Formats: sequence, C-alpha cells, structure tokens
Amino acid sequence: MGNWLSVLDRVLGGDGTAFQPAPRGNGHPGTRGHGAPDPMPPALDAATDPGTPTPTASPDAQAAERALHVGARELADHLAPAAMQVEPDRIHLIGEGWVRVWFIEDLPPALGRGAIDAIYDFPGEIRVALVTRPMDKAAVREHLRQRRTALFAENMTRTQQGRLPDFTAQDELAETERSLHDIESSHLPPLQLLWAVALYGRTQDELDDLTRRLEDYMLDADLRFFRASFRQEEGLYSVQPFGINFLGHGRNITVSALAGMFPFARRLQADIAGIPYGIDRTTGAWVIINPFAQNNYNLLIVGAQGSGKSMFLKYQTTWAILLGMRCYILDLEGEFEPMCRALNGTYLDMSLTSPHRMNIFDLNPDDPDAWHNGLQDTLAWLEIALGALTHKERNVVLVPTYERVMRAAGLDPDNPASWRNLAPVLSDLYEALRSDERREAQDLADRLMTMAVGVYAPAFSQPTNVNPRSPLVVFGLKNVHPDMQALRMRQINTFIWANVLSKMQPTLMIVDEAWRWLEHPGAAHDLAEMARRFRKRNAGVWLATQHGGDLSASQQAVVIRDTAAMTVLFRQTSASVGAVAQLFSLNEVEAREMLTLDRGESVLILGPNHIPVYTVIPPEWYPFWTTDPRDRAL
Ligand SMILES: Nc1ncnc2c1ncn2[C@@H]1O[C@H](COP(=O)(O)OP(=O)(O)O)[C@@H](O)[C@H]1O
Ligand SMILES: [Mg+2]
Repeated sequence: MGNWLSVLDRVLGGDGTAFQPAPRGNGHPGTRGHGAPDPMPPALDAATDPGTPTPTASPDAQAAERALHVGARELADHLAPAAMQVEPDRIHLIGEGWVRVWFIEDLPPALGRGAIDAIYDFPGEIRVALVTRPMDKAAVREHLRQRRTALFAENMTRTQQGRLPDFTAQDELAETERSLHDIESSHLPPLQLLWAVALYGRTQDELDDLTRRLEDYMLDADLRFFRASFRQEEGLYSVQPFGINFLGHGRNITVSALAGMFPFARRLQADIAGIPYGIDRTTGAWVIINPFAQNNYNLLIVGAQGSGKSMFLKYQTTWAILLGMRCYILDLEGEFEPMCRALNGTYLDMSLTSPHRMNIFDLNPDDPDAWHNGLQDTLAWLEIALGALTHKERNVVLVPTYERVMRAAGLDPDNPASWRNLAPVLSDLYEALRSDERREAQDLADRLMTMAVGVYAPAFSQPTNVNPRSPLVVFGLKNVHPDMQALRMRQINTFIWANVLSKMQPTLMIVDEAWRWLEHPGAAHDLAEMARRFRKRNAGVWLATQHGGDLSASQQAVVIRDTAAMTVLFRQTSASVGAVAQLFSLNEVEAREMLTLDRGESVLILGPNHIPVYTVIPPEWYPFWTTDPRDRAL
C-alpha cells in the first residue's frame, strides 16, 4: 500500500506543485529525494513499437492525476520514502526495500489456469498489472493482411526454390489466419495488453531469491517474459493503479482470451442463493456463499478476542433470517439481545427463575428414531446433573425406570403416534426412583432431589411452555450460574431436536464463545453430536472460538473441527498462530498476515480456496451489534 502511494507522490510531485504542469524535457526536476519523473515520461513516446498505435497517455495521465488529486497528496507525503534509486534491473526504495519489474512479451495460445494462479498467488509481495486498450479494428486487420501476404510469399518462394518449408513461418501464417478470422467474426475490437509484474523484497537477497522462484513459475506457465531492463521506473509506474501503460509495450489479445486471465472473474464466489460473507480483500468482489450447498453446513470461526467473531455472526444471522432461514443462538454474554429485538426474534432468558420452560423428556414425533434418541438425550442430561453413573445405576435402574415413567404417561415405544402425548417431567422420574427400594435407586433419587422437587424444580421439572414461531430464537445464558450452564445447554439441545428440527428448513445453530462449552465434556459431546447429525436435518452448527488449540483439546472438539466444511480465521495472537497455521495448512505469508488482520478482516477457508475477506458492517446495523459501549444503540 505504502509503496504505490509513495510512487504516486513522486508522480504527482511531492513538493505540492504536482498540478502545475511539470517542465517538459526535465525528467528529474529534483523535488524530494531522487526527484519526480515527468508525469508523461519521454520514454513513453520513444518506446512504442512503430507498428502499434501510440498510447494516448497524455489525456489519460491528466485524468488520472485529477482523479487521484483529492486528499491523496497529504497522505502520500507522509508515506513517501526518502528516495528511490533506479538501477538497470531493479529499484532500491531506500528505507523500504527493493523491487523488480517484468513485462510479459508473449503468452502461449492456451494459457493454463493453474499456471496463472501460481503467479497471481505467488507467496511474496507481488503486483500484477493488466493494462488494456482497444485497438482500431481496421488498422489491425490491415496489418495482419500485410503480414499474411508477406508470409505467404515467403513460403511460395521457398517451395519454388525447392527448399524445405520454414515451419515457424507456416505456424505464424496459420496463427495470422486465425486472428484475422477472429477479428472478422467478432463484434469486439481487438485489445492491446500490457502484462507487467512487480516483485518486492525487503533485502537484495530476498528479492533475488524470490526472483528465481517467480521466474521459474513464469517459465512453467510458458510465458515469454523480460525484466524491464533500463525501464524499471516506467515499469513501476505501470503497475500502479493509473491504468496507464508507461512501458509502451503491448501484445494483441482477444477479449475472450483476456477474460480467462482475470482472477476476479474466475474466483468469484457468488452463489445467488447464498449469504454475503463480505468482500474479497484483493479484488473487492462480493463473497457470497450458500452454506447449504457445501458438503456439510458446519462453520468454524477462530480469532482473538475483539477480532470481529461475534460481529461476523450477527451479520450472518441477520442475512440468514432475511433470506428465510432459521437461527438458534446460544448467547453466553447476553450480547445478541439488541440484534434479536431489532429482528423481531424471540429472546429466551434461560436463568433459573425464567418463566420459559423446556422439558428434557420431550420426544420428536417426526423422528422415526425418537424413542431411542429421547432416551439418550435424557441419560446425557442426567449424567451432567448427577455426575458419572455406574453401569448398574444407568442400565439396571435408570433405563427401566425411564421406560416405566414414559409408558405411564401414555408414550409407547412401539407406537409413534403416542409420542405426541404430553411427556412426563423430572419429578415423575424422581417419584418412581423413590418408590424403588433398591439402594442405587434411593441414592439416585437423593442426587436428583433439588432439581426434581427442590429449589431448581421450576427450571428443570416442568412441561415445555415455549413454542417459538419466530425463525430467530436466542437462548440467553448470561444469568445462568456456570455450574448450571451445561444442564441448560442439554435442555436447549433436547428442545431443539424435539421441537424445532421436526420441520425441515435450513437452520443454523450458532454457538458463540464455544471454547466455554468445549471445556465441558458433556456440552462438548453435545456439540459434536450436533455437528455430526445436523446435516440430515438440513441444519448446520456454527461455532466461534478464541484459540485454535481449543479445537484439538478433546476428541469431541476434533470431531467438530473435522466436520466443518468452512472455516473463517480472524486475527490470531502470536501464541495461537502456530497451531492455527498447522491445523489449516496456512503458508508462511498467510500465517504472518494472521497477526496483523484488522477487526472484521479474515481468511475464509473453503475447500482448497483461501479467500481474504473483509466483512463490511452496514452503518444502520452497527449500533445494534457492537459491544463497544460508545457506539451502541439504546
Ligand atoms: N467488521 C467490522 N467492522 C467494524 N467494526 C467491527 C467489525 N468487527 C468488529 N468490530 C468492532 O470490534 C468490536 C469487537 O468485535 P467482536 O465481534 O465483539 O469481537 P470478538 O467476538 O471476536 O471478541 C465490535 O464491537 C465492533 O465495535
Ligand atoms: Mg465475541
């Protein structure tokens, strides 16, 4: 960034006289440092091929100056390096580094995408400029005709003289014929393309090392390229965003061939049925992805505190709701409430005194496996509530008691229609255990007492009384004591399985601050189950967590990590970046970038693609989402 601005400064004149016409014929007026070039370098005219029309640089250059004038110079003044020393095949940006510029003289007729991608994605600081200009169709046609005649005559002469044909000339003749045909049959004018590449290094050695690698890549791509010898300065200006070909070099290209070279066109991630994730930080194009079109619908978000994870979730939730999906959010911090209210969602306060009830005995009448799943769910809840269960407690006492209590309430394992009947509650199980004289049953009843019939009974032993029709439900867990959170999570989980997922509709289960759940074995197990089983229900689990290490901490965490089709990495701390880079196979440059990402900037990993994203938060929504007290609505 700094580099082009500093060059901009020099092009525009760092001394504040930029927009006075620069004295012609004085290439180095000696402003700051090495001095600014004339805005219309004389080299431009001198270097142009006699055969190609002269670029109309002067009006373009003036327009570029005008467009860039506003406000730019002050910033550029601050960023400009002290001086720039131009050498035959590189430039020393004093105090900043070194840069070398190439131009591509010729490309093979069929340029492989993989080969171009290797150059565009080169792991180093690189600028690629594709400067195009339409050419006069009639002039090009005339030029090609003359060339065809000359080549044809040459071939004839060789044949008459009994010499072997010149295969290069024959190839060129065929190519010329093809170009002529393309021009005649197309409505689009032929284009002239300057393809220039600039490579930056912090030291001479780094630049030389990177140069070798880049030149290998260009050879692999079958490009004919040159270092812009003695033309480095013009080359450097050509890769700045002026849209001007200061090198004067150009190569004819058809519009369709050019289209194949654009990174944006090919890498566009835009699914019409998807959710916007933000804009691509290199191309500025929207990144729009349909999570339900991936192998599975799970997404992981990893980033340091304050890096923008929750903001991203709020942005995604809002879009998901607007697009007709359903969202359930586990909100440990109470920070999703303003967003929920603004979207007209249902906010369920899950504190123990809350009037909202969810019964862990509910079955999902639409699930053919509901009896079995319901038993597992209830047992899982009981394990969290009662602590570890022995084999006898679990299989000899609890399972038969559970079945007895369910049957007593009219729910029969063999009759799915009966699963719609009102389920029993925890106090029914408690009473059944109390009436069982075995020592284990009495012990279990003792351990269950506070929740079944004691102070916590209102929270855990009541029929379900919420039936949120809203597609957005936020479960507020802020006021739940940490010891009780996992129990609440289990209830919510049962509630979601039994009541919500019976209706097939794309659904996102969003778990912010997931590391706090992952620390808890019961809750981690639940999340892993969701990650595994949700797909069949057209639902996905979206988890945000702070440390990459959280995702390797337990077997459950690994399940969650490995099932996620998408990952979004926000800024990492230096302590966590190593683990993250290894987990998600980031290269060295990406890993370094992880440390300096700004809020809202991320790298989206989708299969083999690593997409640099910035999530732009609409200003009207921002006050409802921010946790910064100065910016909040209310
Ligand atoms: N994309 C963004 N654009 C602008 N500001 C942002 C963005 N993401 C985050 N912020 C700011 O940073 C603050 C912290 O972000 P948050 O998402 O709560 O971080 P995290 O959840 O990663 O700890 C937000 O309250 C907001 O003020
Ligand atoms: Mg957060």
